[in-house]
Amino acid sequence: MSDDFKPEKWSVARSFGQSAQYYDDVAVLQRQTGDELLDRLSLVTLTPKRILDLGAGTGRNVVQLATRYPDAEVIGLDIAPTMLKQAQQTYRASQGLKRWLPKQKKPIFIAGDAESLPLADDSVDLVFANLALQWCDLAASFTEIERVLRPDGLLMFTTLGPDTLTELRQAWATVDDYPHVNVFFDMHDVAEAMMNARLAEPVLDMDRYVLTYQDAMAMMRDLKVLGASNVAQGRRRGLTGKKALVQVAKAYETFRENGVLPASYEVVFGHAWAGVPASQMQHSDGSVHIPLSELTGLKR
Ligand SMILES: C[S@@+](CC[C@H](N)C(=O)[O-])C[C@H]1O[C@@H](n2cnc3c(N)ncnc32)[C@H](O)[C@@H]1O
Repeated sequence: MSDDFKPEKWSVARSFGQSAQYYDDVAVLQRQTGDELLDRLSLVTLTPKRILDLGAGTGRNVVQLATRYPDAEVIGLDIAPTMLKQAQQTYRASQGLKRWLPKQKKPIFIAGDAESLPLADDSVDLVFANLALQWCDLAASFTEIERVLRPDGLLMFTTLGPDTLTELRQAWATVDDYPHVNVFFDMHDVAEAMMNARLAEPVLDMDRYVLTYQDAMAMMRDLKVLGASNVAQGRRRGLTGKKALVQVAKAYETFRENGVLPASYEVVFGHAWAGVPASQMQHSDGSVHIPLSELTGLKR
């Protein structure tokens, strides 16, 4: 990803923080991919002592992970402190009075950056990251994840691929030449970043999700609440004019099918283990060879 398209970290934190209160109302995709990731996790036999939910958001997956692995210490980490406040409330609401039981293990919530994790080396057995890494520098984040994973630790994540919100991108292209939708990583870039970070046996696959909306304005409102409004460094500063939004909404109408407007998401699912075997190390010319078989899906 070129620097022009790298999300501005504090703008991401602010943007997610502002929408924390309403996030769960519109996080349809996040729930679907989170559930799919949890389903995939159930295929792996694991007895984690410590789990990191990276980019935990409002904490739905913290609750799921704490329930599935009651003996594990679950850490919910996010760059937006307001999201973590919401996550704490989500956890409290999910537990009711149970949380006062003396032996109840409570999750820990930490404000921090995926690119510089405030955790010790070899201290985590499972890193779970649902739709968070697309906001981060992949090389730095994977390196940090590899550092904190114990030997045999597992990383499971989803991120967004470049065809995400293609309709919106195309609709904006009829209005002006500014980037209005973030540019997301190609699956091969993701694989290369994993290998460079010495994560072992990476497996990646992609799935397409389509959400539908009655109108484009409603969709853009949801994206704003999701904190996912455009944060690329090359964006136009200042307000996006009402006139421009009306034009985008009009252009978006060309995608209407069966009475609704589609918003496509390319979701990349990935997992890898800590500690790369010698056969998968980077070659002396800097290249990393990934067998094609390892880029095919777990299920699809
Ligand atoms: C789309 S939300 C997903 C939240 C949650 N994982 C879920 O499944 O609902 C992305 C989250 O990643 C967080 N995030 C973005 N950049 C981050 C970074 N560099 N380090 C830690 N968290 C980050 C955001 O604040 C936000 O809460």
